[in-house]
Amino acid sequence: MAPEWIANGFRAHFRTLRAAGVAVAIAGAIGASPAPARCFPWSIDMYRGPEVQPYAEAPRVSPDGVLPVHGGEPPMGLEEMTIKLHNPLEVTPANLFKGKRDFDTYCAPCHGANATGNGPVAHLLSVAPKDLVAGPSKELPDGYLYGVIRDGILAMPSYGEVLPSTRRWQVVLYVRSLERAAAAKSGVAAR
Ligand code: HEC
Repeated sequence: MAPEWIANGFRAHFRTLRAAGVAVAIAGAIGASPAPARCFPWSIDMYRGPEVQPYAEAPRVSPDGVLPVHGGEPPMGLEEMTIKLHNPLEVTPANLFKGKRDFDTYCAPCHGANATGNGPVAHLLSVAPKDLVAGPSKELPDGYLYGVIRDGILAMPSYGEVLPSTRRWQVVLYVRSLERAAAAKSGVAAR
């Protein structure tokens, strides 16, 4: 399309030049001043060109349920994660160790080292972090904790980017171990 258009442009231009040449020749022959120089068509090329409009065609939309080739997770809301996802990990010292390491790094600043909601920066927040050992999440399935870590909830930011799936489940195991420890301490039967 473009080369054809350019060719047409050239032809039109040469016709203009030829006409101008004839006009100059005639003007010279009759002793008049030459015609004023004609503007090249280039000046309005961008205006007349076969421009491509961004979004003239809809961007490619992925079919439902596809996953990125380099790994990824199916989109799932918190409710669905709460119901459908189950912790695939065993309570082992290694998993608890890694869960504690991530909890202390990413969760304890707000929720506190014992997950009771009194971390060192909690007083700076307009919404108080929840008590994870005695709050509602204690009664909710592991998938809920996992989903909150992945996507965040209301005033709590998402940690899905920094904590990949296995590490989220390790944090969940560790939070459960804190709940058990708190329950044992207060004499209430552990879950
Ligand atoms: C920047 C502070 C902050 C950090 C860091 C943080 N949270 Fe939260 N979290 C909050 C706040 C604030 C809420 C209450 C949100 C609301 O109700 O608006 C909350 C709520 C939650 C809840 C829901 C509690 C309930 O009873 O429904 C869970 C579960 C939770 N956080 C777990 C975690 C875990 C696990 C981590 C570490 C990966 C973490 N949070 C890191 C601030 C934080």
